[in-house]
Amino acid sequence: MSSLADKLRQLQADAEQAFESASDSNAVEALRVRFLGAKQGLLKTLQKEMGGVAKEEKPDVGKLFNETKQRLTGLLEAAQARLDSQAAPQSAEWFDPTLPGRVMGRLAPARLGRLHPITQTMEELKEIMGRLGFTVADGPEIEDERHNFEALNIPREHPARDPLDNFYLKAAAGSAAGSGGQLLLRSQTSTVQIRVMETTPPPIRIISLGRVYRPDTADATHYPMFHQMEGLLVDERVTLTDLKATLTMFAQSYLGSGVEIRFRPSFFPFTEPSVEVDMSWNGGWLEVGGAGMVDPNVLAAVGYDPEAVTGFAFGLGVERLCMRRHGVSDIRDLFKNDVRLLGQF
Ligand code: DAH
Repeated sequence: MSSLADKLRQLQADAEQAFESASDSNAVEALRVRFLGAKQGLLKTLQKEMGGVAKEEKPDVGKLFNETKQRLTGLLEAAQARLDSQAAPQSAEWFDPTLPGRVMGRLAPARLGRLHPITQTMEELKEIMGRLGFTVADGPEIEDERHNFEALNIPREHPARDPLDNFYLKAAAGSAAGSGGQLLLRSQTSTVQIRVMETTPPPIRIISLGRVYRPDTADATHYPMFHQMEGLLVDERVTLTDLKATLTMFAQSYLGSGVEIRFRPSFFPFTEPSVEVDMSWNGGWLEVGGAGMVDPNVLAAVGYDPEAVTGFAFGLGVERLCMRRHGVSDIRDLFKNDVRLLGQF
C-alpha cells in the first residue's frame, strides 16, 4: 500500500489520542479545525494526495480515506457529547432540596426543630381547658393603665402601680397614651379579662395565655418576663365551688389524677373573695397562682350588672407548671436557649 494509507492510519491514531484528551469545548473545536477543517485540515491535505495514488491501489485507499473521515467525525461527536454530559449537572440535573444533606459522603442525620417547652406547655394547657369548654382569647403585651390596673380595681395610689414594679414606657407619657393612661408592658394577663368583657356580653368562658413583664432580678424562681394562664368564667349563679372544681379538673389533667388542690385566703383587688391556689406535689404543696370571685367593681367597670351575673377568675404561672412537670429547677434555664436542654423536650 502507498504511504498515503499509512498516513491515514497515523492520522486516525493521532486524532483518537487528541480528541480523547480534549478537556473543554475550545480544545475540541481547535481539533475539529485541525483534523477536519474544510480548507487546511489534515484530512483535506491528505485528500489532495489521492491524485498521486497508483490506479490499482485507488479503491482500497479511497475506502480507507472514507473510513478515516467517518472515524474522525465520530471522534469529534464523542468528544462533544462527553463534554456536554460533564457540564450538565449544574444546569439540567433535578435538584431536590428536601433530601437530607451529606457529611463526608454519608447521609447527615436530619435535625428537626421543635417547639420551646413553654410553648408546648401552653399548647397542652389550651387543650385541657378546651375540653372544659374554655376558648382562647388574646390581648396586647403593651397595655394602658386602664386595662392593667384601673378597670381591675387597682386605684391610682395602689402600690402595685409603683414605677419600680412595672415597665412603664417612656415614650407613651402624655402623647401616645390615650384615655387609658400611660402605656406599660403588662404585668399580668388579667388585662385580657377586661378586654374580653368590654367587647362581649356574658356568659364568658375564656382563657388567655401569654407573656407578662415585671422588673424582678432573675434568680432560680424569678425572671423579668414569664407567662401566665388567665381564666375567666362569668355567668348566672357562678360560685367558688365551680372555681375549685374547674381548677381540680385542670390540675388532675395536667399533673396526674391523684393531684389535689388547696385554696388559701389571699387578697387581689379584682377578686372577692381571693385565694392563693396550691397543687399537691411529691408530698408537699406547689403554689401555682391566684384566683377568686370576680369583684363586683370589675363587673361594673365593664358595664356588666353585678346583680345579674357572677364569675370566677384565676391566673396561674405557666413556668411553674412546666418546671414542676418536667423537673426543671431553675427558671433561667428555660430562657438560655441551650439546645442541650431544649432538645430534651
Ligand atoms: N393577676 C394576678 C397576678 O399576676 C394573678 C391572679 C389572681 C389572676 C387572681 C386572677 C385572679 O385572675 O382572680 O398575680
